[in-house]
Amino acid sequence: MKMPKINLRVLKNQTQKEIEKAENLKELDEIFKKYLGKRGELTQVLRLLEKLPKTKRVKIGREANELKNFLRTAFDQKAQELKEKAQKKIEEKEWIDITAPGKKPVLGHLHPLTLVKREVEEIFGSMGFSVVEGPEMETEWYNFDALNIPQDHPARDLWDTFYLKNGLILRTHTSPVQVRYMERNNPPFRIIVPGNVFRHEATDPSHEFQLYQVEGLMVDKDVSVANFKAVVGEFFRKFFKKEVKFRLRPDFFPFTEPSFDIGISCVMCDGKGCSVCKEEGFLEVAGAGMVHPNVFKNSKLIPKDWQGWAFGFGLERLAMLKYKINDIRLFRSGDLRFLNQF
Ligand code: DAH
Repeated sequence: MKMPKINLRVLKNQTQKEIEKAENLKELDEIFKKYLGKRGELTQVLRLLEKLPKTKRVKIGREANELKNFLRTAFDQKAQELKEKAQKKIEEKEWIDITAPGKKPVLGHLHPLTLVKREVEEIFGSMGFSVVEGPEMETEWYNFDALNIPQDHPARDLWDTFYLKNGLILRTHTSPVQVRYMERNNPPFRIIVPGNVFRHEATDPSHEFQLYQVEGLMVDKDVSVANFKAVVGEFFRKFFKKEVKFRLRPDFFPFTEPSFDIGISCVMCDGKGCSVCKEEGFLEVAGAGMVHPNVFKNSKLIPKDWQGWAFGFGLERLAMLKYKINDIRLFRSGDLRFLNQF
């Protein structure tokens, strides 16, 4: 077999020149393959060595291996050089101004009603009340009849009701949860029931068709209005973070006897009289009373065995007083200018 003519010097010069010219790593890689790859020119020379006579083989073998090492180093150096060049180019393009002011991440807010709800739960929780929930779609029985509001009784007009096609209604207050809870639990107990309620009415600065109420209920052998006053007094003190004067006035609710409304001394004018309290010095914030015997009966409890009081607060009302908000419609307006303030 005729040996190809092997001229290592030519090979060396040629390879060096090509390495020199390589503009990027990809090109360099191609050149590497061409000479040092599996079928590279130098690789083939090394493979042919064994076919040479011994004398030649030793000499050419040494030279070829030296060339191989030499070229490898040349490739490595060039590769390093090209890498640095590429990096520099990127750095030049991606110049970072480390003195530029950062972007402030947008933080979410808790809705004012959520803040107030949590605070109410915490305060009553500290007095041993547990939080209970009930359905927003309710039967007429729980929303009205069980609460001593018979079908044709004019008192039903107090709550303008949304009637649903499925025969249920949207609850107009959280009071039905009193009955639902008493049916399934034996006294004594203390609960609060936060939740949405719905009224079919026109809206204005102090009326909404969807409201958030907190119902309260305490039942035991021997609870009284005095006991009720102590609990709500403590609540007001903690909620408004100051001593708040409040008064109970006779009112009417079918599910309590006696019934009263709770007024607190106006937090806007400290009871002096202003436009918010209509110069009265007091603001009504809740309805309350002693649980009516018929409500116990409808909840399968024996009325003579138990006494209880209940109340219903409007959460929007509490939030409006605490944060001095003058329009109830703001809560559900989705207006970020309003919400971002909390
Ligand atoms: N449920 C009444 C309403 O929505 C508020 C209320 C009044 C709740 C007296 C009570 C209560 O528990 O005892 O107008």
